[in-house]
Amino acid sequence: VDCALNNISEFRRIAVIGAGLVGTGWAIIFATAGLDVRIFDANPKRRHAVKADISDALFAMQEQGLLDSNWIKYLERITVHEQIEDALTGADYVQESVHESLDLKLSVYQEIDRYIGPDTIVGSSSSGIPASKFTEALHNRQRIFIVHPVNPPHLIPLVEIVPAPWSAVGHIPRIRGFMESIGQKPITLNREIEGFILNRLQGALLNEAWALFSEGYASCKDIDRTVSQGLACRWSLMGPFETIDLNAEHGIGDYAARLGPLYYNIAKSRSDPQPWSDKAIEQATAQRRTALPIEKLIERRSWRDAELIALKQYFQGRGKAD
Ligand SMILES: NC(=O)c1ccc[n+]([C@@H]2O[C@H](COP(=O)([O-])OP(=O)(O)OC[C@H]3O[C@@H](n4cnc5c(N)ncnc54)[C@H](O)[C@@H]3O)[C@@H](O)[C@H]2O)c1
Repeated sequence: VDCALNNISEFRRIAVIGAGLVGTGWAIIFATAGLDVRIFDANPKRRHAVKADISDALFAMQEQGLLDSNWIKYLERITVHEQIEDALTGADYVQESVHESLDLKLSVYQEIDRYIGPDTIVGSSSSGIPASKFTEALHNRQRIFIVHPVNPPHLIPLVEIVPAPWSAVGHIPRIRGFMESIGQKPITLNREIEGFILNRLQGALLNEAWALFSEGYASCKDIDRTVSQGLACRWSLMGPFETIDLNAEHGIGDYAARLGPLYYNIAKSRSDPQPWSDKAIEQATAQRRTALPIEKLIERRSWRDAELIALKQYFQGRGKAD
């Protein structure tokens, strides 16, 4: 949907700061929504390569029917700039996606603060560092939020919007509306917490997966299969609360009464969490490299993205609600 042409989006000119994996995905989302995208990346190599990467991604999306044949028009909306000032000046909305490093975010936000206008809204792709850690001293801090996507953002729609304690929360409905208008699925956190929601849920699963693996209960492959052929079949349709609501005759309360004690026992059995051990990491690496040699990672990532495109198309065709 070309939302700018249909006048849906109030933000028309977008700056993308940092164009690695995530920034590139964001540029695709904004451009295919019909918005003008101005990219800045500090690395000249990335500046040079980013349009070719976007072109490849758009081509793959078009080939599988997610975009119309005139996909070049989306590429034409994107410009790459050598100075951060040129990307930021006049931007209605800024999406920052530099590396996850507090020192780097602190320095990049000094520049963002200097060049944005008095109405510009800024979203940070930060995966876990809350905005309060890098926006406290900024003039524009009321209009800077975490807007955290999932990788690859142009194929997985969720974004987490997280205010800092000094954010003007009245902007949140605007950001949500904007994200909806460009095809993303926003959620809002009422306040900051490390890792936000997505990575806290993922962390709970990962921590348990590492613990089960370290203790020798099953192989990486079988633990992965438990998710890909089990839990995730439902998870692409609904979350944990709706899942359990459907899994007991009288709904969620019934489920809680029957199985609450089991989950409480499981939680108590992990009351002394341990860091992922070097030994377990070494063993998991050996198992993963046997399953997939390191030189095949890129090929497998492309396979994943092609399957995600197919899944997106499937859900779009069925008008999947949430
Ligand atoms: N990779 C993921 O799975 C994922 C998912 C969601 C969010 N994120 C978050 O998105 C952000 C970016 O992650 P990524 O995976 O795209 O990293 P990446 O390493 O692929 O890209 C980061 C980019 O930032 C650029 N950069 C560094 N300093 C800069 C500066 N001063 N100005 C402009 N550009 C600069 C780098 O050249 C690089 O191209 C991080 O905060 C990360 O936590 C990552």
